[in-house]
Amino acid sequence: MAQQLDTRAEGLHIGFIMDGNGRWAKKRGLPRNAGHRKGAQVFQDITRYCNELGVASASFYAFSTENWKRPAAEVAGIMGLFKDYLVKAFDYKKENNRVCFLGDRTPLAKDLQELMAEIEEGSRQNTGMILNVAINYGGRDELVHAVRSIAGQVREGGLLPEQIDEQLISDRLYTAGQKDPDFILRPSGEMRLSNFLLWQCAYSEFIYMDVLWPDFTRHHLDLALDEYNHRSRRFGGI
Ligand code: FPP
Repeated sequence: MAQQLDTRAEGLHIGFIMDGNGRWAKKRGLPRNAGHRKGAQVFQDITRYCNELGVASASFYAFSTENWKRPAAEVAGIMGLFKDYLVKAFDYKKENNRVCFLGDRTPLAKDLQELMAEIEEGSRQNTGMILNVAINYGGRDELVHAVRSIAGQVREGGLLPEQIDEQLISDRLYTAGQKDPDFILRPSGEMRLSNFLLWQCAYSEFIYMDVLWPDFTRHHLDLALDEYNHRSRRFGGI
């Protein structure tokens, strides 16, 4: 089971696509934001569990570049939960996580941006798990930003096109300097990536589980780790 895996020593990086909040709420006759509220509680518990297990990095997909298409009240609800979490629940000194926010934060509210910067700065020296929270994140958008930054450098004469390699591109992503995810877990029964960590997932294992995110428990993560342990990863070799 999960406990047999030396997660920190192996530098395990898990990506989570927190899906199914809306369906969870609908099944109970509740507004969609009630599902997101329960999802936010699960998010916190699972981050703690990852830390307890010694997982090296955990990346959570909280809001995509496409999620702005949702009704304004739902977007405001998710942003509100995110802010509550940043303000009240997150004790970066106690939890010892190094927090990084993945995504384009420029369209976010100014106070949110300030809080995010403060938490990233304040947790930079922490030695525990890297906790990535993807907010206004899109894999394609991330690549567009990287390409623009590289093209700008080429135009200014600081870089030759033939100097562009995979490492250089990785270094321009929001996850610069981090290990690629070993596996990406998506609950809710949907089997797609939805624009999450597109470049980084080249050799990630995918684990899909038939449970809605608000019902996701530590036990489900144990099961996923167990399944991951049985996968044979060859990275294109034999
Ligand atoms: C996907 O489920 C979930 C989201 C788009 C939002 C996830 C947000 C949270 C868990 C809470 C806020 C985050 C933090 C970090 C505190 P869905 O709404 O697409 O579900 P459905 O497919 O059942 O409709």
